Parts: sequence; structure tokens; C-alpha cells
Amino acid sequence: MARILTGIQSSGEQHLGNVLGALQPAIELSRNSANESFFFIADLHSLTSLKNADERRFNTRAAAAAWLATGFDAEKNVFYRQSDLAGLVNELTWYLGCFAPYPMLANAHSFKDKSDRLSEVNAGLFYYPVLMAADILLYDADFVPVGKDQKQHLEITRDLAKAINHLCDEEILKLPEPLIREEVMTIPGTDGRKMSKSYGNVIRVFDPVKSLKKQVMSIVTDSTALEDPKDPDSCNVVKLYRLVASAEEVLEMEENYRKGGYGYGHAKKALLEILVDQFAEGRENYANWMERTDDLEDILKLGAEKARPHAELVLERLRPKLGF
Ligand code: ADP
Ligand code: TRP
Repeated sequence: MARILTGIQSSGEQHLGNVLGALQPAIELSRNSANESFFFIADLHSLTSLKNADERRFNTRAAAAAWLATGFDAEKNVFYRQSDLAGLVNELTWYLGCFAPYPMLANAHSFKDKSDRLSEVNAGLFYYPVLMAADILLYDADFVPVGKDQKQHLEITRDLAKAINHLCDEEILKLPEPLIREEVMTIPGTDGRKMSKSYGNVIRVFDPVKSLKKQVMSIVTDSTALEDPKDPDSCNVVKLYRLVASAEEVLEMEENYRKGGYGYGHAKKALLEILVDQFAEGRENYANWMERTDDLEDILKLGAEKARPHAELVLERLRPKLGF
């Protein structure tokens, strides 16, 4: 049985890009009965950028609700919050950090990118990949599904595991294989750039319909008049429509664009209808889970207790090898 492990940060509410780009593909893998999935909410990682405690608690609940509303089976699999095993994961983080050459972390793309962009560059941002490596190596993960942006973090994880195994002359830490979602396209946001919380251009499909409508209506279009023909290929509404509508529906919209007499308002309405419809069940489940705070808490606590013995086993293998 292959162990699949992945995490998502609790840095904001999940949007269409997260759902199509990360949640759905990972859940698809977890449905294969030959796999056992460890999915977790990386709330410790979120402290690198988010300092407000209530926001973190809310985002953690929102991330858990999004996984469950998208169809993740938390009973069959292992579903937990990173900070519930903070002692164990931080212990491994320290060991791994002592094998991480300073330039490897200093030259990592995501650290360089963040340190160029952000006004506050804390040491947690620098250490981010080491904590991520510990997340993975602590549970003997076989496969780690992630987006392209995380490729280098997986390389760092493997390098750290190899350095420790080399010292011990034995495979103490399991080398994980990345499953990079090359085929998943980058979902565009309402302004045409990559959909991202940090750009404020998101469509949150689990939001109440009224707020979803507002987000869809805010999609940026040009000023071509309603009666004029339009180019479907350069339109942000069509780009999003193509991701969720059927082939016939897309064809119909494209024809309407080319014919003229069809406005962007019509296209947005069609997109909204599909989003409302397609995520109706997910939206309802999400709202339910967000109300059931205590149940969510119980699920995550139970998940942490399922994960704990695996983590303890790995540390029991490693500690004596390091003289502890
Ligand atoms: P954000 O950019 O909104 O902060 P995250 O970096 O937290 O999103 O994304 C978590 C995962 O969701 C990423 O590793 C990536 O695989 C996926 N993801 C995020 N945005 C998109 C997008 N626009 N298109 C496809 N996948 C995305
Ligand atoms: N860094 C990942 C992201 O931003 C989240 C993450 C933390 C993760 N720990 C992980 C992903 C371990 C996979 C495995 O998307």
C-alpha cells in the first residue's frame, strides 16, 4: 500500500484554483484503494506570514471544511492538523536543519521570491522548507502530490533524507517521490493573473451564492459593446468557463462571442449558473462543516492520534543514530 501525503497551508479560504489545482487531484488519488492518504493542514507554516490567532483558527477550520466538502474521506484516511503534532515535527525539523547547508536554503526560489517581495523577512520563511521536509519524512511518505511551485521543496526534502541516511549508512528516512501536477493548468483569477489569495482575484466556490455572484461579476473584461463580436480566446470569463462547463456549452458560448449581440454580462451569468450548480453540494457541505466546529475539532484530533504512532516510530529509528 502506497502512502500519499500532502498538506495545505491555512493561510486563507480555499478558492477555485486550490480546489481544481490541489484538492480535487489529491482526493482522486486517495480514492484508489491501493493508497493510504495522510492529508494535513499546515498551520505551523502559516505563522511565517499570518500572525493573527483568530484568523489562523478560522483558516484552519475553513481548510478542513474545504477538504471534507470536496469529498475527502477522513475516516478511511488520516486527516490532521500539523500543530497537533508540533513537538514531533519540530524535533525532526531541528535534526534536518542541522544537515541543511545554509546556501541551499538561502538560494531556494520561494525564499528568494518571498524575501524580495515581503517587508518582513523572518527566519521562519528561511526555515520553511525544512519544516516541510519534516512533515513528509516524519510519516514515511511514498508519494507527495504538489503543485509545480513546490518542486524544489521536494528536492530539498530528498537531499536532507539522503544526508541523514548517508551518515547512518542505512535508509532511516524514506525517500519520497514527488507527484508534480504538471498537467493541471494554472487557474486564472478574475483579473487574468494566476488565481491567488495574495492577488485578491479569487473565486471562492464555497461562498454563499450572493458573494460568489459578486466575485464572478468582478471578472475583468474589455469594453467591447454588447452588439459587437468578441474574441473568446482573450476573455477571462471564457477562460474560467472552459474549466467548468461541458464541451458543448463552451462551443455555444464561443459562437455567441463571435456572432455578437452577446454581452460579457450574459457570459458571466452563464458562468455563475454553472459554478452555483456544480458546487451546490460542496457549498452546502462546507457551510455545514463550518457550523460544526466541535465535530471538525474531533475529526482533526482523531486524525492526529492516528498519525502520532507513525511519527514516533520514525523518531525512534533516528534518535539513537544521532546519539540521542
Ligand atoms: P494561494 O496562491 O492562493 O496562496 P496556495 O499557494 O496556498 O494558494 O495554494 C495551495 C495549492 O493550491 C498550491 O500548491 C497549488 O498546487 C494550488 N493552486 C493555488 N492556486 C492555483 C491556481 N491558480 N491554479 C492551479 N492550482 C493552484
Ligand atoms: N508548502 C506547501 C504549499 O504551500 C504546503 C505544505 C506544507 C506541504 N507541508 C507540506 C505540501 C508537506 C506537501 C507536503 O502548498
